[in-house]
Amino acid sequence: MKIKIGLLGLGTVGTGVYKLITSRGGHIRESTGVYPEIKKILVKNLNKPRKVKVEGLLTQNAEEILKDKEIKIVIEAIGGISPAYEYVKEALASGKHVITANKELIAKHGEELNEIAEKNRVFLKCEASVGGAIPILHQIDARHGR
Ligand SMILES: NC(=O)c1ccc[n+]([C@@H]2O[C@H](COP(=O)([O-])OP(=O)(O)OC[C@H]3O[C@@H](n4cnc5c(N)ncnc54)[C@H](OP(=O)(O)O)[C@@H]3O)[C@@H](O)[C@H]2O)c1
Repeated sequence: MKIKIGLLGLGTVGTGVYKLITSRGGHIRESTGVYPEIKKILVKNLNKPRKVKVEGLLTQNAEEILKDKEIKIVIEAIGGISPAYEYVKEALASGKHVITANKELIAKHGEELNEIAEKNRVFLKCEASVGGAIPILHQIDARHGR
Protein backbone atom coordinates (compact mmCIF):
# COMPACT_ATOMS: atom_id res chain seq x y z
CA MET A 1 0.00 0.00 0.00
CA LYS A 2 1.22 3.50 -0.84
CA ILE A 3 0.82 6.34 1.63
CA LYS A 4 1.10 9.94 0.46
CA ILE A 5 2.97 12.47 2.54
CA GLY A 6 2.98 16.27 2.51
CA LEU A 7 6.24 17.82 3.67
CA LEU A 8 6.18 21.33 5.16
CA GLY A 9 9.69 22.80 4.81
CA LEU A 10 12.76 21.72 2.87
CA GLY A 11 15.57 23.13 5.00
CA THR A 12 18.03 21.11 7.08
CA VAL A 13 15.43 18.78 8.56
CA GLY A 14 13.07 18.66 5.57
CA THR A 15 15.92 17.79 3.20
CA GLY A 16 17.05 15.01 5.56
CA VAL A 17 13.52 13.64 5.79
CA TYR A 18 13.14 13.78 2.00
CA LYS A 19 16.44 11.91 1.46
CA LEU A 20 15.53 9.29 4.03
CA ILE A 21 12.04 8.64 2.68
CA THR A 22 13.13 8.52 -0.95
CA SER A 23 16.16 6.32 -0.29
CA ARG A 24 14.56 3.98 2.30
CA GLY A 25 11.09 3.56 0.78
CA GLY A 26 11.75 -0.08 -0.15
CA HIS A 27 13.03 -0.93 3.32
CA ILE A 28 10.04 0.80 4.96
CA ARG A 29 7.67 -1.19 2.74
CA GLU A 30 9.44 -4.46 3.63
CA SER A 31 9.21 -3.82 7.34
CA THR A 32 5.75 -2.20 7.49
CA GLY A 33 3.90 -3.10 4.29
CA VAL A 34 3.48 0.60 3.56
CA TYR A 35 5.37 2.50 0.85
CA PRO A 36 5.79 6.19 1.72
CA GLU A 37 5.67 8.74 -1.11
CA ILE A 38 6.19 12.50 -0.77
CA LYS A 39 3.49 14.13 -2.90
CA LYS A 40 4.10 17.85 -2.22
CA ILE A 41 6.60 20.03 -0.41
CA LEU A 42 5.82 23.47 0.98
CA VAL A 43 8.63 26.04 0.84
CA LYS A 44 8.88 29.79 1.22
CA ASN A 45 11.09 30.48 -1.80
CA LEU A 46 10.53 28.49 -4.99
CA ASN A 47 13.73 29.80 -6.59
CA LYS A 48 16.15 28.74 -3.90
CA PRO A 49 18.70 26.11 -5.00
CA ARG A 50 17.93 22.70 -3.42
CA LYS A 51 20.22 19.84 -2.42
CA VAL A 52 17.73 17.25 -3.64
CA LYS A 53 15.85 16.69 -6.91
CA VAL A 54 12.31 17.83 -6.27
CA GLU A 55 11.03 18.93 -9.69
CA GLY A 56 7.27 19.28 -9.71
CA LEU A 57 6.94 18.75 -5.97
CA LEU A 58 7.44 22.25 -4.59
CA THR A 59 4.63 24.65 -3.73
CA GLN A 60 4.23 27.93 -1.87
CA ASN A 61 0.58 27.21 -1.23
CA ALA A 62 0.00 25.22 1.97
CA GLU A 63 -3.60 24.46 0.95
CA GLU A 64 -2.26 22.21 -1.82
CA ILE A 65 -1.15 19.91 1.00
CA LEU A 66 -3.70 20.61 3.72
CA LYS A 67 -6.74 20.28 1.43
CA ASP A 68 -5.43 17.25 -0.49
CA LYS A 69 -7.50 14.25 0.64
CA GLU A 70 -4.92 11.83 -0.78
CA ILE A 71 -2.28 13.12 1.66
CA LYS A 72 -2.64 11.18 4.91
CA ILE A 73 0.52 12.28 6.72
CA VAL A 74 1.96 15.78 7.11
CA ILE A 75 5.55 16.24 8.24
CA GLU A 76 6.21 19.71 9.64
CA ALA A 77 9.79 20.98 9.36
CA ILE A 78 9.21 24.74 9.03
CA GLY A 79 10.01 25.70 12.62
CA GLY A 80 8.74 28.58 14.77
CA ILE A 81 5.15 29.12 15.77
CA SER A 82 3.34 30.85 12.94
CA PRO A 83 2.44 29.54 10.36
CA ALA A 84 3.56 26.07 11.61
CA TYR A 85 0.92 26.14 14.38
CA GLU A 86 -1.95 27.00 12.01
CA TYR A 87 -0.84 24.38 9.46
CA VAL A 88 -0.46 21.59 12.04
CA LYS A 89 -3.82 22.45 13.57
CA GLU A 90 -5.56 22.39 10.18
CA ALA A 91 -3.87 19.12 9.20
CA LEU A 92 -4.96 17.39 12.43
CA ALA A 93 -8.48 18.82 12.25
CA SER A 94 -8.85 17.48 8.72
CA GLY A 95 -7.84 13.97 9.79
CA LYS A 96 -4.19 13.88 8.79
CA HIS A 97 -1.49 12.39 10.98
CA VAL A 98 1.26 14.87 11.82
CA ILE A 99 4.93 14.41 12.59
CA THR A 100 6.76 17.54 13.67
CA ALA A 101 10.39 18.39 14.30
CA ASN A 102 9.31 21.59 16.05
CA LYS A 103 9.98 21.51 19.78
CA GLU A 104 8.91 25.15 20.26
CA LEU A 105 5.51 24.36 18.78
CA ILE A 106 5.05 21.33 21.05
CA ALA A 107 6.26 23.22 24.13
CA LYS A 108 3.80 26.07 23.54
CA HIS A 109 0.81 24.33 21.94
CA GLY A 110 1.39 20.59 22.45
CA GLU A 111 -1.52 20.10 24.83
CA GLU A 112 -4.06 21.73 22.53
CA LEU A 113 -2.67 19.98 19.44
CA ASN A 114 -2.73 16.59 21.18
CA GLU A 115 -6.37 17.14 22.08
CA ILE A 116 -7.22 17.94 18.46
CA ALA A 117 -5.31 14.83 17.35
CA GLU A 118 -7.18 12.62 19.84
CA LYS A 119 -10.54 14.09 18.83
CA ASN A 120 -9.82 13.34 15.16
CA ARG A 121 -8.27 9.92 15.88
CA VAL A 122 -4.93 10.77 14.32
CA PHE A 123 -1.47 10.86 15.79
CA LEU A 124 0.81 13.78 16.53
CA LYS A 125 4.42 12.61 16.81
CA CYS A 126 7.42 14.69 17.84
CA GLU A 127 10.00 12.17 19.04
CA ALA A 128 12.74 13.34 16.66
CA SER A 129 12.42 17.00 17.67
CA VAL A 130 14.84 16.61 20.57
CA GLY A 131 17.95 14.59 21.43
CA GLY A 132 19.05 13.93 17.84
CA ALA A 133 16.17 11.44 17.47
CA ILE A 134 17.20 9.38 20.52
CA PRO A 135 13.78 8.24 21.80
CA ILE A 136 13.95 10.17 25.04
CA LEU A 137 10.43 11.67 24.96
CA HIS A 138 8.88 8.21 24.83
CA GLN A 139 10.83 7.24 27.96
CA ILE A 140 9.67 10.34 29.83
CA ASP A 141 6.05 9.72 28.75
CA ALA A 142 6.27 6.07 29.85
CA ARG A 143 7.59 7.10 33.28
CA HIS A 144 4.53 9.29 33.67
CA GLY A 145 2.24 6.42 32.76
CA ARG A 146 1.20 7.76 29.34
N1 LIG B 1 18.39 21.73 12.16
C1 LIG B 1 18.44 20.77 13.10
O1 LIG B 1 19.47 20.13 13.34
C2 LIG B 1 17.19 20.44 13.90
C3 LIG B 1 17.19 19.32 14.75
C4 LIG B 1 16.00 18.98 15.44
C5 LIG B 1 14.88 19.76 15.28
N2 LIG B 1 14.93 20.86 14.46
C6 LIG B 1 13.69 21.64 14.30
O2 LIG B 1 13.19 21.41 12.98
C7 LIG B 1 12.50 22.56 12.49
C8 LIG B 1 13.10 22.98 11.15
O3 LIG B 1 14.46 23.31 11.34
P1 LIG B 1 15.46 23.47 10.11
O4 LIG B 1 16.82 23.63 10.72
O5 LIG B 1 15.25 22.40 9.10
O6 LIG B 1 14.98 24.88 9.51
P2 LIG B 1 15.40 25.57 8.12
O7 LIG B 1 16.64 24.93 7.59
O8 LIG B 1 15.38 27.03 8.36
O9 LIG B 1 14.21 25.17 7.13
C9 LIG B 1 12.92 25.74 7.23
C10 LIG B 1 12.14 25.38 5.99
O10 LIG B 1 10.82 25.86 6.13
C11 LIG B 1 10.48 26.70 5.02
N3 LIG B 1 9.66 27.79 5.53
C12 LIG B 1 9.99 28.68 6.51
N4 LIG B 1 8.96 29.53 6.72
C13 LIG B 1 7.99 29.20 5.84
C14 LIG B 1 6.70 29.72 5.54
N5 LIG B 1 6.21 30.79 6.18
N6 LIG B 1 5.97 29.11 4.58
C15 LIG B 1 6.47 28.03 3.91
N7 LIG B 1 7.68 27.49 4.15
C16 LIG B 1 8.44 28.07 5.10
C17 LIG B 1 11.77 27.20 4.43
O11 LIG B 1 11.56 27.45 3.04
P3 LIG B 1 12.75 27.94 2.05
O12 LIG B 1 13.67 26.75 1.95
O13 LIG B 1 12.10 28.25 0.78
O14 LIG B 1 13.39 29.11 2.73
C18 LIG B 1 12.70 26.00 4.70
O15 LIG B 1 12.61 25.07 3.65
C19 LIG B 1 12.64 23.62 13.61
O16 LIG B 1 11.49 23.55 14.42
C20 LIG B 1 13.87 23.15 14.40
O17 LIG B 1 13.85 23.56 15.75
C21 LIG B 1 16.04 21.20 13.75
